[in-house]
Amino acid sequence: MRVIPAVKEMQAEVLNQKAQGKSIGFVPTMGFLHEGHLSLIKKAREENDLVVLSIFVNPLQFGPNEDFATYPRDFERDRALAESEGVDFLFYPSVEEMYPNPSSVTLVVQKRTDVLCGKSRPGHFDGVATVLAKLFQIVQPTRAYFGKKDAQQVAVVEGLITDLNFPVELVPVDIVREADGLAKSSRNVNLLPEDRKQAVVLHKSLQQAKKVMDEGERNPSTLISLIKEMITSESSGRIDYIELLSYPQLLPIERLEGKFIIALAVHFTNVRLIDNFILEIN
Ligand code: PAF
Repeated sequence: MRVIPAVKEMQAEVLNQKAQGKSIGFVPTMGFLHEGHLSLIKKAREENDLVVLSIFVNPLQFGPNEDFATYPRDFERDRALAESEGVDFLFYPSVEEMYPNPSSVTLVVQKRTDVLCGKSRPGHFDGVATVLAKLFQIVQPTRAYFGKKDAQQVAVVEGLITDLNFPVELVPVDIVREADGLAKSSRNVNLLPEDRKQAVVLHKSLQQAKKVMDEGERNPSTLISLIKEMITSESSGRIDYIELLSYPQLLPIERLEGKFIIALAVHFTNVRLIDNFILEIN
């Protein structure tokens, strides 16, 4: 595995590989790799000749009061994990390398951002879209792999790839969970022990909502109330949102039908967690 810190070097390497007819699977991350990321790398490994992993904590997608400074980082551990998963190139640029000058062009995402995390994190998806547009130009992947835990991100990336005609295939990959159901996240390490115990209610409440839906409930508000009730009674978490929307359009629906997402975000003492189920009724 080669670690490449420079944009020009990364671009030259992929051009060289593509000239030899190699397909490139790309896994963009902000590091502090967990099993969720490893499942993306494994899938990329299966489906492509080469795998490029990027690790870059992108300042553009953090709001002024968010956790850019405390976002967990451990490059040596990440490097060892990437190597053992068979990554070929690890792109690891500095902030100065990615943004050498104040940007003269950034992207603004027009749709799918006024709900869910977009609502409570203004500008977040503009930052994600801008860095991904740059990363797609640098890595020129055949396929790009994203976890469904960030389901709104997957929907936004789908729009980015379609609207800006990136010749990249988007591959969404299922959520990986801890044994008790908590969705794996780099932020889980920052949970206080009591919050960690309570956080299991996120997945539990989604399961309960699915059960009620499987039994015939079709009213979105009933499922939302049920989830709210469970989270409030079984944890001290502060609910940011619980929403039920069509997927991937992310529009409100009156009745459960077609493909939709039930998504939630809950603040614990010093960590905000998200989780979701994407379901379909035909
Ligand atoms: O999901 C993430 O880790 C980030 O949003 C991404 C896609 C690497 C862009 O910075």
